[in-house]
Amino acid sequence: MSVDELVRAAARRLREAGVLSPEVDAELLLAHAMGLDRAGLRRARVLREQVGPAVHGAFLELVVRRADRVPLQHLTGTAWFAGLELAVGPGVFVPRPETETLVRLALATLQDLTSPTVVDLCTGSGAIALALSHQRPDARVGAVELSQEAYRYAVANRARTGLEVDLRLGAAQESFEDWRGRVDLVVSNPPYIPPDAVPVDPEVRDHDPGLALYGGGTDGLELPGLLASRAGQLLRPGGALLMEHADSQSASVVGLLEHTGWRDVRDHEDLAGRPRVVAATRA
Ligand SMILES: C[S@@+](CC[C@H](N)C(=O)[O-])C[C@H]1O[C@@H](n2cnc3c(N)ncnc32)[C@H](O)[C@@H]1O
Repeated sequence: MSVDELVRAAARRLREAGVLSPEVDAELLLAHAMGLDRAGLRRARVLREQVGPAVHGAFLELVVRRADRVPLQHLTGTAWFAGLELAVGPGVFVPRPETETLVRLALATLQDLTSPTVVDLCTGSGAIALALSHQRPDARVGAVELSQEAYRYAVANRARTGLEVDLRLGAAQESFEDWRGRVDLVVSNPPYIPPDAVPVDPEVRDHDPGLALYGGGTDGLELPGLLASRAGQLLRPGGALLMEHADSQSASVVGLLEHTGWRDVRDHEDLAGRPRVVAATRA
């Protein structure tokens, strides 16, 4: 079969299985099976290149697993985030494009500072910390993660990107004691989903680790609250906090920070216009 025929057939199958972007996923899976990037796959598609039996078999296996709603990134083994290709797989949260909003806000916050100190609480694959280190090579960036499995991905991603991040394994709410009071910016995309809001998408519900999703308490904000309190201890006076949350939690998160002594509390929208990242300054 030709590349084009295979992509069309796979996209049909993925669409029937409820996959949201069947055509893109089919292309990316075939590119992965052929060892090509997406541009190379597009070329092979236009030229109606034929696919040999080994690649055909490997591709069909990938399509079956994707139709079972295994995340695309678990099948390719990588996810793109803020211009970096990161290793991901079972046991680590797949970084999301919407979290790039937090990275953009962090870079804007840091723009007038020279050699700033930044801490990423709940770093997962290392996505935010590595993106900031990539964009701001003069920054001293630290990051902490509780899950051993996720931490291993963060270490692997630090090695594959060659970036410098002080990675630590442990509980974020007790981390970086040696940096207390000296941090310019704390960033975090913590677990924040309430216990009764189990995600509908099987890719998230069945494949992102529970530790990465649920924030604790009845509203999912138990850990985010503890992290804000830790951020208050780590930051220097005037230092900034940026934390992602669900759009439905906007009023609660803003209220939580305003009632615990933060100033200039402001919620920011993502590219879809939903309030997703709260910013605040340590008094
Ligand atoms: C929503 S994921 C975000 C990961 C990463 N920041 C990103 O944006 O892709 C939350 C992460 O927090 C980690 N985590 C949960 N509780 C933690 C804690 N108490 N201390 C440190 N990390 C924690 C989870 O293992 C998971 O990797």
